[in-house]
Amino acid sequence: MNGRERELIAVLEREHRLSEAEYAELIRGRDEEAAALLAERASELRRSVFGDTVYLRGLIEISSICRNNCLYCGIRRDNRQAERYRLTKEEILSCADEGYTLGFRTFVLQGGEDLFFTDEILCGIVSALKERHPDCAVTLSMGERRRESYQALFDAGADRYLLRHETADDAHYAKLHPEEMSFENRMRCLRELKDIGYQVGCGFMVGSPFQTAETLAKDLKFIETFRPEMCGIGPFIPHRNTPFRDETPGTLELTLFLLSVIRLILPEVLLPATTALGTIHPRGRELGILAGANVVMPNLSPVVVRKKYELYDNKICTGEESAQCVDCLAARLDAIGCHPAVDRGDAPGFAALRREAAT
Ligand code: 5AD
Ligand code: FES
Repeated sequence: MNGRERELIAVLEREHRLSEAEYAELIRGRDEEAAALLAERASELRRSVFGDTVYLRGLIEISSICRNNCLYCGIRRDNRQAERYRLTKEEILSCADEGYTLGFRTFVLQGGEDLFFTDEILCGIVSALKERHPDCAVTLSMGERRRESYQALFDAGADRYLLRHETADDAHYAKLHPEEMSFENRMRCLRELKDIGYQVGCGFMVGSPFQTAETLAKDLKFIETFRPEMCGIGPFIPHRNTPFRDETPGTLELTLFLLSVIRLILPEVLLPATTALGTIHPRGRELGILAGANVVMPNLSPVVVRKKYELYDNKICTGEESAQCVDCLAARLDAIGCHPAVDRGDAPGFAALRREAAT
């Protein structure tokens, strides 16, 4: 690490921001020593905001049916080999009940853009979930929808929404997506979600095809200015039945580096160590937490469908029961001196707002 690299890290730590050119410089100039310094600072910051707590979010993959055709994704419309399924309302509620018994107080409903889930149907599921478990947060990750739809879901009780921006570079976005999808619409969705009052998560894949230090610098600048409550990043992993089958996967090293940078930009952000990170390295998620992440999302989907929600090859945790994943993660967290938290774990700013609203 040279003096310049050290200086950039110091500025980032002090001001929680760099210029776009500096982000690119930081990424290009990185080495093992810089990564270790960043991870140490990010980990310390995580500890000062959240203590030893790592939040568990129960992920329920409600549908593998998708009208979209993203070039990287295993459940894209054109993948005729993909096995499609859709959980019923009763199945979703029973996954959540099981999760509740295991201690979960946040449920993430994620799925492809499956037109079956009209506002009416999805609102019915959200309100039933909130009725059964009023102390739980409901997070949706169901893709791009109309503003009215986001509003209706929010009114039905949804608290949070995850919609990765995928890349903050317009031209890069166009290389990852079919023509009918647009960067502009993705940004519209993110803005509206925030406007409506959701806690919002954006994010991107590390090492996606055509990604450069410049596009990553734009991602970091976007995260810095958009100020999401959550930010999901994980390595790109090729899926055998997509146009990107022969592309190179993202690396552990760059993912960890970027997790640390994002922690320094947004000290309070909820930052998952993703399943994709656990897929490219057996200790990927633990290393993610040690680099600054503070959330893990164990899978609560019924074991019979898990293999079918296959966004990328070799996804982990597809054979385990929910309780097994929870025990496994608890042991992994314990081994690195962290403990799993079961409360809602709102982003600190939001938690204060909620307390105010309640009094
Ligand atoms: N590798 C890694 N992540 C992927 N995603 C989709 N396909 C892949 C892949 N091949 C991510 C996208 C999406 C999220 C749900 O999963 O970023 O937003
Ligand atoms: Fe699922 Fe370890 S977290 S088996």
